Amino acid sequence: MPPISLNRRAIAALIGGFVIFLVISGAITNHVRPDVIQNNLSWAKSLLPPPKQDELPPPPEKETPIQPFQEEIFQLAKEGRIPKVNPLNTVANNDLKTPLFIGFTRNWYLLEQAVVSYITAGWPASDIIVVDNTGVMDSNLRGLLSPKNPWYLNHTRLDQLGVSVKRTPTLLTFAQLQNFFINYAVEQNWDHFFWSHMDVAVLSKEYEQPYTSFYARVLDCLRQAKASKEKWALKFFAYDWLTLVRVEAMKDVGGWDTQIPFYMTDCDMYERLFQRNYTQKDWDAGHIFDLASHLQDLAVLYPAAGEESALDTTRFKELKLELERMMGEKQQNKKGRNTWQAVQDGGQGEPFWRNPKGFEKAINFWIEKGRELFKLKWNYPDCDIIKAGRKAGDEWTQ
Ligand SMILES: *[C@@H]1O[C@H](CO)[C@@H](O)[C@H](O)[C@H]1NC(C)=O
Ligand SMILES: *[C@@H]1O[C@H](CO)[C@@H](O)[C@H](O)[C@H]1NC(C)=O
Ligand SMILES: *[C@@H]1O[C@H](CO)[C@@H](O)[C@H](O)[C@H]1NC(C)=O
Repeated sequence: MPPISLNRRAIAALIGGFVIFLVISGAITNHVRPDVIQNNLSWAKSLLPPPKQDELPPPPEKETPIQPFQEEIFQLAKEGRIPKVNPLNTVANNDLKTPLFIGFTRNWYLLEQAVVSYITAGWPASDIIVVDNTGVMDSNLRGLLSPKNPWYLNHTRLDQLGVSVKRTPTLLTFAQLQNFFINYAVEQNWDHFFWSHMDVAVLSKEYEQPYTSFYARVLDCLRQAKASKEKWALKFFAYDWLTLVRVEAMKDVGGWDTQIPFYMTDCDMYERLFQRNYTQKDWDAGHIFDLASHLQDLAVLYPAAGEESALDTTRFKELKLELERMMGEKQQNKKGRNTWQAVQDGGQGEPFWRNPKGFEKAINFWIEKGRELFKLKWNYPDCDIIKAGRKAGDEWTQ
Protein backbone atom coordinates (compact mmCIF):
# COMPACT_ATOMS: atom_id res chain seq x y z
CA MET A 1 0.00 0.00 0.00
CA PRO A 2 1.22 3.50 -0.74
CA PRO A 3 1.89 5.58 2.34
CA ILE A 4 -0.91 7.94 1.36
CA SER A 5 -4.14 6.38 0.25
CA LEU A 6 -6.96 7.78 -1.80
CA ASN A 7 -9.38 8.28 1.08
CA ARG A 8 -6.91 10.73 2.60
CA ARG A 9 -6.86 13.06 -0.35
CA ALA A 10 -7.69 16.16 1.59
CA ILE A 11 -4.86 15.63 4.04
CA ALA A 12 -2.57 14.77 1.21
CA ALA A 13 -3.43 17.98 -0.59
CA LEU A 14 -2.63 20.03 2.49
CA ILE A 15 0.66 18.40 3.26
CA GLY A 16 1.55 17.72 -0.36
CA GLY A 17 3.37 20.99 -0.81
CA PHE A 18 5.32 20.54 2.34
CA VAL A 19 6.28 17.00 1.44
CA ILE A 20 7.47 18.17 -1.94
CA PHE A 21 9.53 20.88 -0.32
CA LEU A 22 11.15 18.18 1.79
CA VAL A 23 11.63 15.99 -1.22
CA ILE A 24 13.52 18.63 -3.13
CA SER A 25 15.72 19.41 -0.19
CA GLY A 26 17.14 15.87 -0.21
CA ALA A 27 20.19 14.54 -1.97
CA ILE A 28 20.77 15.78 -5.49
CA THR A 29 19.88 12.50 -7.13
CA ASN A 30 16.64 12.42 -5.19
CA HIS A 31 15.35 15.76 -6.23
CA VAL A 32 12.75 14.65 -8.61
CA ARG A 33 9.92 12.46 -7.69
CA PRO A 34 6.51 12.41 -9.32
CA ASP A 35 5.47 12.90 -5.82
CA VAL A 36 3.54 11.35 -3.14
CA ILE A 37 0.88 9.58 -5.12
CA GLN A 38 2.27 8.10 -8.24
CA ASN A 39 -0.26 5.29 -8.40
CA ASN A 40 -2.88 7.62 -9.81
CA LEU A 41 -0.76 9.73 -12.05
CA SER A 42 -3.23 12.28 -13.31
CA TRP A 43 -4.57 12.79 -9.85
CA ALA A 44 -1.06 13.05 -8.46
CA LYS A 45 -0.10 15.77 -10.83
CA SER A 46 -2.95 18.05 -9.96
CA LEU A 47 -1.80 17.83 -6.37
CA LEU A 48 1.53 19.44 -7.02
CA PRO A 49 1.90 22.70 -5.21
CA PRO A 50 1.96 26.11 -6.80
CA PRO A 51 5.49 27.47 -7.22
CA LYS A 52 5.18 29.72 -4.19
CA GLN A 53 5.84 27.67 -1.12
CA ASP A 54 5.54 30.36 1.54
CA GLU A 55 1.79 30.04 1.82
CA LEU A 56 1.84 26.37 2.73
CA PRO A 57 0.95 25.31 6.25
CA PRO A 58 3.96 25.05 8.54
CA PRO A 59 5.40 21.59 9.12
CA PRO A 60 4.71 19.85 12.41
CA GLU A 61 7.66 20.58 14.67
CA LYS A 62 9.20 17.54 16.22
CA GLU A 63 12.73 17.08 17.43
CA THR A 64 14.73 14.01 16.53
CA PRO A 65 18.18 13.42 17.86
CA ILE A 66 20.85 13.90 15.24
CA GLN A 67 22.48 10.59 14.44
CA PRO A 68 26.04 10.57 15.64
CA PHE A 69 28.45 10.23 12.76
CA GLN A 70 29.42 6.62 12.26
CA GLU A 71 32.34 5.96 9.96
CA GLU A 72 31.69 2.27 9.40
CA ILE A 73 28.20 0.81 9.13
CA PHE A 74 29.17 -2.57 7.71
CA GLN A 75 31.93 -3.90 9.96
CA LEU A 76 31.69 -7.43 8.56
CA ALA A 77 32.50 -6.16 5.08
CA LYS A 78 35.48 -4.28 6.42
CA GLU A 79 36.66 -7.56 7.93
CA GLY A 80 36.11 -9.25 4.58
CA ARG A 81 33.27 -11.40 5.88
CA ILE A 82 30.21 -10.45 3.85
CA PRO A 83 27.33 -12.78 4.80
CA LYS A 84 25.45 -14.90 2.25
CA VAL A 85 22.21 -13.73 0.67
CA ASN A 86 19.15 -15.85 1.41
CA PRO A 87 19.08 -18.36 -1.51
CA LEU A 88 15.29 -18.02 -1.61
CA ASN A 89 15.76 -14.42 -2.75
CA THR A 90 18.02 -15.02 -5.72
CA VAL A 91 16.81 -16.40 -9.05
CA ALA A 92 18.76 -19.22 -10.65
CA ASN A 93 18.92 -19.69 -14.42
CA ASN A 94 17.60 -16.25 -15.16
CA ASP A 95 17.92 -15.34 -18.82
CA LEU A 96 16.94 -11.68 -18.47
CA LYS A 97 19.38 -8.89 -17.86
CA THR A 98 18.37 -6.48 -15.12
CA PRO A 99 20.83 -3.58 -15.16
CA LEU A 100 20.11 -1.28 -12.25
CA PHE A 101 21.53 2.26 -12.08
CA ILE A 102 21.81 3.94 -8.73
CA GLY A 103 22.93 7.53 -9.07
CA PHE A 104 25.12 8.88 -6.30
CA THR A 105 26.06 12.42 -5.39
CA ARG A 106 26.16 12.73 -1.60
CA ASN A 107 26.01 10.46 1.44
CA TRP A 108 27.87 7.21 0.98
CA TYR A 109 26.05 5.67 3.94
CA LEU A 110 22.61 5.91 2.37
CA LEU A 111 24.05 4.63 -0.90
CA GLU A 112 25.71 1.62 0.69
CA GLN A 113 22.48 0.83 2.50
CA ALA A 114 20.47 0.97 -0.73
CA VAL A 115 22.99 -1.18 -2.61
CA VAL A 116 23.16 -3.82 0.12
CA SER A 117 19.37 -3.94 0.39
CA TYR A 118 19.04 -4.62 -3.35
CA ILE A 119 21.66 -7.36 -3.11
CA THR A 120 20.00 -9.02 -0.12
CA ALA A 121 16.63 -8.78 -1.90
CA GLY A 122 18.13 -11.01 -4.59
CA TRP A 123 19.34 -8.52 -7.19
CA PRO A 124 22.54 -9.84 -8.80
CA ALA A 125 25.34 -7.54 -7.65
CA SER A 126 26.90 -7.81 -11.10
CA ASP A 127 23.81 -6.10 -12.57
CA ILE A 128 24.06 -3.11 -10.21
CA ILE A 129 25.84 -0.01 -11.49
CA VAL A 130 26.49 2.78 -9.08
CA VAL A 131 26.79 5.97 -11.08
CA ASP A 132 29.31 8.17 -9.31
CA ASN A 133 27.91 11.62 -10.04
CA THR A 134 29.91 13.42 -7.40
CA GLY A 135 31.85 15.60 -9.81
CA VAL A 136 35.10 14.79 -8.01
CA MET A 137 36.56 13.02 -11.07
CA ASP A 138 38.81 10.13 -9.99
CA SER A 139 39.19 11.25 -6.37
CA ASN A 140 37.01 8.46 -4.98
CA LEU A 141 38.64 5.86 -7.18
CA ARG A 142 41.97 6.93 -5.74
CA GLY A 143 40.64 7.07 -2.20
CA LEU A 144 41.42 10.75 -1.74
CA LEU A 145 38.27 11.75 0.15
CA SER A 146 37.65 11.14 3.84
CA PRO A 147 34.41 9.56 5.15
CA LYS A 148 33.14 12.86 6.53
CA ASN A 149 33.27 14.40 3.08
CA PRO A 150 29.70 14.47 1.65
CA TRP A 151 31.01 13.28 -1.74
CA TYR A 152 32.97 10.36 -0.28
CA LEU A 153 32.32 6.93 -1.79
CA ASN A 154 34.22 3.73 -0.98
CA HIS A 155 35.12 2.21 -4.34
CA THR A 156 36.87 -0.75 -2.75
CA ARG A 157 33.73 -1.63 -0.82
CA LEU A 158 31.57 -1.57 -3.94
CA ASP A 159 34.12 -3.78 -5.73
CA GLN A 160 34.03 -6.12 -2.78
CA LEU A 161 30.23 -6.29 -3.00
CA GLY A 162 30.53 -7.14 -6.70
CA VAL A 163 28.89 -3.92 -7.82
CA SER A 164 30.36 -1.83 -10.63
CA VAL A 165 30.90 1.89 -10.61
CA LYS A 166 30.51 4.16 -13.60
CA ARG A 167 31.68 7.74 -13.30
CA THR A 168 29.99 10.72 -14.88
CA PRO A 169 32.52 13.08 -16.47
CA THR A 170 31.28 16.02 -14.40
CA LEU A 171 28.49 16.73 -11.98
CA LEU A 172 25.23 16.19 -13.85
CA THR A 173 21.78 17.46 -12.99
CA PHE A 174 18.93 15.02 -12.47
CA ALA A 175 17.73 15.32 -16.08
CA GLN A 176 21.26 14.95 -17.45
CA LEU A 177 21.84 11.92 -15.27
CA GLN A 178 18.69 10.30 -16.64
CA ASN A 179 19.91 10.86 -20.19
CA PHE A 180 23.29 9.50 -19.14
CA PHE A 181 21.51 6.27 -18.08
CA ILE A 182 19.67 6.10 -21.39
CA ASN A 183 22.80 6.73 -23.42
CA TYR A 184 24.71 4.11 -21.46
CA ALA A 185 21.92 1.62 -22.16
CA VAL A 186 22.03 2.52 -25.85
CA GLU A 187 25.77 1.92 -25.92
CA GLN A 188 25.32 -1.46 -24.26
CA ASN A 189 22.48 -2.35 -26.61
CA TRP A 190 20.06 -2.83 -23.69
CA ASP A 191 16.39 -2.38 -24.54
CA HIS A 192 15.50 -1.72 -20.91
CA PHE A 193 17.10 -0.82 -17.60
CA PHE A 194 16.14 0.00 -14.03
CA TRP A 195 17.08 3.04 -12.00
CA SER A 196 16.65 3.61 -8.31
CA HIS A 197 16.90 6.46 -5.89
CA MET A 198 19.86 6.12 -3.55
CA ASP A 199 17.92 7.02 -0.42
CA VAL A 200 15.82 3.87 -0.31
CA ALA A 201 16.03 0.37 1.09
CA VAL A 202 14.06 -2.52 -0.37
CA LEU A 203 12.72 -5.56 1.44
CA SER A 204 10.89 -8.66 0.26
CA LYS A 205 7.51 -9.56 1.71
CA GLU A 206 8.81 -12.57 3.60
CA TYR A 207 5.50 -13.05 5.41
CA GLU A 208 3.56 -13.81 2.22
CA GLN A 209 2.80 -17.32 1.03
CA PRO A 210 3.73 -18.57 -1.47
CA TYR A 211 6.93 -16.58 -1.14
CA THR A 212 8.36 -14.62 -4.05
CA SER A 213 11.36 -12.41 -3.37
CA PHE A 214 11.54 -8.75 -4.31
CA TYR A 215 13.90 -9.52 -7.16
CA ALA A 216 11.81 -12.42 -8.46
CA ARG A 217 8.82 -10.10 -8.60
CA VAL A 218 10.79 -7.49 -10.49
CA LEU A 219 11.66 -10.21 -12.99
CA ASP A 220 7.97 -11.13 -13.31
CA CYS A 221 7.22 -7.53 -14.16
CA LEU A 222 9.97 -7.38 -16.76
CA ARG A 223 9.00 -10.69 -18.33
CA GLN A 224 5.35 -9.67 -18.64
CA ALA A 225 6.23 -6.25 -19.99
CA LYS A 226 8.48 -7.74 -22.63
CA ALA A 227 5.87 -10.28 -23.67
CA SER A 228 3.00 -7.80 -23.87
CA LYS A 229 1.84 -5.84 -26.89
CA GLU A 230 1.28 -2.81 -24.72
CA LYS A 231 2.97 0.44 -25.67
CA TRP A 232 4.68 0.73 -22.30
CA ALA A 233 7.41 3.16 -21.36
CA LEU A 234 7.88 2.87 -17.61
CA LYS A 235 6.95 0.61 -14.71
CA PHE A 236 6.96 2.22 -11.29
CA PHE A 237 7.74 0.27 -8.15
CA ALA A 238 6.50 2.56 -5.37
CA TYR A 239 6.38 5.86 -7.26
CA ASP A 240 9.67 6.21 -9.12
CA TRP A 241 11.78 5.07 -6.19
CA LEU A 242 12.56 2.14 -8.45
CA THR A 243 11.64 2.41 -12.13
CA LEU A 244 11.88 0.08 -15.11
CA VAL A 245 12.60 2.07 -18.25
CA ARG A 246 12.07 1.06 -21.87
CA VAL A 247 14.87 2.57 -23.91
CA GLU A 248 12.93 2.71 -27.19
CA ALA A 249 10.23 4.87 -25.58
CA MET A 250 12.82 7.25 -24.16
CA LYS A 251 14.38 7.64 -27.58
CA ASP A 252 10.98 8.11 -29.17
CA VAL A 253 10.20 11.16 -27.02
CA GLY A 254 13.70 12.57 -27.33
CA GLY A 255 14.93 11.82 -23.84
CA TRP A 256 14.72 14.10 -20.83
CA ASP A 257 14.67 17.86 -21.26
CA THR A 258 18.01 18.80 -19.72
CA GLN A 259 17.07 22.46 -19.77
CA ILE A 260 14.70 21.65 -16.90
CA PRO A 261 17.41 20.35 -14.56
CA PHE A 262 15.56 19.00 -11.50
CA TYR A 263 12.07 19.49 -10.30
CA MET A 264 9.30 19.42 -12.97
CA THR A 265 11.53 17.65 -15.46
CA ASP A 266 9.82 14.42 -14.40
CA CYS A 267 6.40 15.94 -15.11
CA ASP A 268 7.71 17.06 -18.47
CA MET A 269 8.91 13.54 -19.29
CA TYR A 270 5.92 11.61 -17.95
CA GLU A 271 3.40 13.90 -19.62
CA ARG A 272 5.24 13.76 -22.94
CA LEU A 273 5.08 9.97 -22.74
CA PHE A 274 1.35 10.09 -22.07
CA GLN A 275 0.89 12.52 -24.97
CA ARG A 276 2.32 9.81 -27.21
CA ASN A 277 0.10 7.13 -25.67
CA TYR A 278 2.78 5.31 -23.69
CA THR A 279 1.64 3.57 -20.52
CA GLN A 280 3.34 4.05 -17.15
CA LYS A 281 1.96 1.62 -14.63
CA ASP A 282 2.72 0.48 -11.11
CA TRP A 283 4.03 -2.85 -9.99
CA ASP A 284 4.34 -4.16 -6.47
CA ALA A 285 7.60 -6.02 -5.91
CA GLY A 286 7.70 -5.57 -2.15
CA HIS A 287 8.62 -2.88 0.31
CA ILE A 288 10.57 0.19 -0.74
CA PHE A 289 11.40 2.48 2.15
CA ASP A 290 12.24 6.11 1.58
CA LEU A 291 15.00 6.97 4.05
CA ALA A 292 17.13 9.83 5.29
CA SER A 293 19.04 7.82 7.86
CA HIS A 294 20.89 4.53 7.89
CA LEU A 295 20.87 1.36 9.93
CA GLN A 296 23.55 1.05 12.59
CA ASP A 297 24.80 -2.17 11.03
CA LEU A 298 23.99 -3.24 7.48
CA ALA A 299 24.60 -6.88 8.45
CA VAL A 300 20.97 -7.04 9.65
CA LEU A 301 19.92 -6.99 6.00
CA TYR A 302 21.43 -10.48 5.64
CA PRO A 303 20.11 -13.67 7.25
CA ALA A 304 21.61 -14.36 10.67
CA ALA A 305 24.01 -17.26 11.13
CA GLY A 306 22.06 -20.50 11.29
CA GLU A 307 19.02 -18.96 9.57
CA GLU A 308 20.44 -18.74 6.07
CA SER A 309 17.28 -19.71 4.23
CA ALA A 310 14.69 -18.95 6.90
CA LEU A 311 11.87 -16.48 6.22
CA ASP A 312 9.99 -13.99 8.36
CA THR A 313 12.36 -14.43 11.27
CA THR A 314 12.59 -12.19 14.31
CA ARG A 315 15.47 -10.42 12.60
CA PHE A 316 13.27 -9.75 9.56
CA LYS A 317 10.37 -8.49 11.65
CA GLU A 318 12.59 -6.13 13.63
CA LEU A 319 14.30 -4.91 10.49
CA LYS A 320 10.97 -4.15 8.85
CA LEU A 321 9.79 -2.23 11.91
CA GLU A 322 13.01 -0.26 12.05
CA LEU A 323 12.83 0.67 8.37
CA GLU A 324 9.21 1.70 8.79
CA ARG A 325 10.19 3.86 11.73
CA MET A 326 13.02 5.46 9.75
CA MET A 327 10.73 6.16 6.81
CA GLY A 328 8.12 7.71 9.10
CA GLU A 329 10.79 9.91 10.57
CA LYS A 330 11.85 11.11 7.15
CA GLN A 331 8.36 11.81 5.93
CA GLN A 332 7.18 13.65 9.01
CA ASN A 333 10.24 15.43 10.14
CA LYS A 334 12.29 18.05 8.42
CA LYS A 335 15.13 17.57 10.83
CA GLY A 336 14.98 13.83 10.40
CA ARG A 337 15.19 14.18 6.68
CA ASN A 338 18.37 16.18 6.73
CA THR A 339 20.28 14.61 9.59
CA TRP A 340 22.99 13.34 7.30
CA GLN A 341 23.79 16.80 6.06
CA ALA A 342 24.62 17.88 9.58
CA VAL A 343 26.79 14.88 10.35
CA GLN A 344 28.69 14.66 7.10
CA ASP A 345 30.14 18.10 6.52
CA GLY A 346 33.87 17.48 6.57
CA GLY A 347 36.47 17.08 3.89
CA GLN A 348 37.37 20.73 3.50
CA GLY A 349 40.53 21.07 1.45
CA GLU A 350 40.13 17.70 -0.25
CA PRO A 351 39.95 17.57 -4.07
CA PHE A 352 36.92 19.27 -5.59
CA TRP A 353 35.51 20.17 -2.19
CA ARG A 354 32.67 22.70 -2.24
CA ASN A 355 30.83 24.34 0.60
CA PRO A 356 27.96 21.88 1.27
CA LYS A 357 25.51 24.61 2.28
CA GLY A 358 26.32 26.61 -0.82
CA PHE A 359 26.00 23.47 -2.91
CA GLU A 360 22.49 22.94 -1.56
CA LYS A 361 21.54 26.57 -2.13
CA ALA A 362 22.81 26.44 -5.71
CA ILE A 363 20.74 23.34 -6.43
CA ASN A 364 17.66 25.02 -5.03
CA PHE A 365 18.38 27.99 -7.27
CA TRP A 366 18.38 25.77 -10.35
CA ILE A 367 15.27 23.97 -9.16
CA GLU A 368 13.47 27.31 -9.15
CA LYS A 369 14.84 28.22 -12.56
CA GLY A 370 13.71 24.85 -13.90
CA ARG A 371 10.23 25.53 -12.69
CA GLU A 372 10.19 28.87 -14.49
CA LEU A 373 11.46 27.23 -17.62
CA PHE A 374 8.78 24.53 -17.49
CA LYS A 375 6.19 27.28 -17.34
CA LEU A 376 7.67 29.02 -20.35
CA LYS A 377 7.81 25.76 -22.27
CA TRP A 378 4.20 24.71 -21.73
CA ASN A 379 2.70 28.11 -20.94
CA TYR A 380 1.37 26.44 -17.82
CA PRO A 381 2.92 26.17 -14.36
CA ASP A 382 1.78 22.76 -13.11
CA CYS A 383 2.38 19.14 -13.88
CA ASP A 384 -1.04 18.31 -15.31
CA ILE A 385 -0.36 19.77 -18.73
CA ILE A 386 -2.48 17.19 -20.56
CA LYS A 387 -5.49 18.03 -18.43
CA ALA A 388 -4.76 21.65 -19.24
CA GLY A 389 -5.17 20.76 -22.92
CA ARG A 390 -1.53 20.58 -24.01
CA LYS A 391 -0.89 18.03 -26.74
CA ALA A 392 2.32 16.75 -28.23
CA GLY A 393 3.85 19.64 -30.15
CA ASP A 394 2.22 22.35 -28.02
CA GLU A 395 5.47 23.14 -26.23
CA TRP A 396 7.08 26.47 -26.99
CA THR A 397 4.13 27.64 -29.06
CA GLN A 398 3.05 30.62 -26.90
C1 LIG B 1 -7.61 7.73 -10.65
O1 LIG B 1 -7.61 6.53 -11.38
C2 LIG B 1 -8.88 5.96 -11.55
C3 LIG B 1 -8.74 4.65 -12.30
O2 LIG B 1 -7.52 4.08 -12.05
C4 LIG B 1 -9.82 6.91 -12.30
O3 LIG B 1 -11.09 6.36 -12.39
C5 LIG B 1 -9.87 8.22 -11.57
O4 LIG B 1 -10.63 9.15 -12.33
C6 LIG B 1 -8.49 8.77 -11.34
N1 LIG B 1 -8.57 9.98 -10.57
C7 LIG B 1 -8.32 11.17 -11.10
C8 LIG B 1 -8.55 12.33 -10.19
O5 LIG B 1 -7.93 11.32 -12.24
C1 LIG C 1 36.56 0.89 2.23
O1 LIG C 1 36.16 -0.46 2.08
C2 LIG C 1 37.23 -1.37 2.22
C3 LIG C 1 36.70 -2.74 1.82
O2 LIG C 1 35.63 -3.12 2.63
C4 LIG C 1 37.77 -1.30 3.62
O3 LIG C 1 38.84 -2.20 3.77
C5 LIG C 1 38.22 0.11 3.92
O4 LIG C 1 38.58 0.22 5.28
C6 LIG C 1 37.11 1.11 3.61
N1 LIG C 1 37.66 2.45 3.69
C7 LIG C 1 37.29 3.32 4.62
C8 LIG C 1 37.98 4.63 4.58
O5 LIG C 1 36.43 3.08 5.44
C1 LIG D 1 -2.78 8.51 -29.24
O1 LIG D 1 -4.10 8.05 -29.16
C2 LIG D 1 -5.05 8.97 -29.68
C3 LIG D 1 -6.45 8.46 -29.34
O2 LIG D 1 -6.56 7.11 -29.64
C4 LIG D 1 -4.82 9.14 -31.17
O3 LIG D 1 -5.74 10.07 -31.69
C5 LIG D 1 -3.42 9.65 -31.39
O4 LIG D 1 -3.12 9.72 -32.77
C6 LIG D 1 -2.38 8.75 -30.70
N1 LIG D 1 -1.11 9.39 -30.78
C7 LIG D 1 0.02 8.73 -31.08
C8 LIG D 1 1.28 9.52 -31.11
O5 LIG D 1 0.02 7.53 -31.29
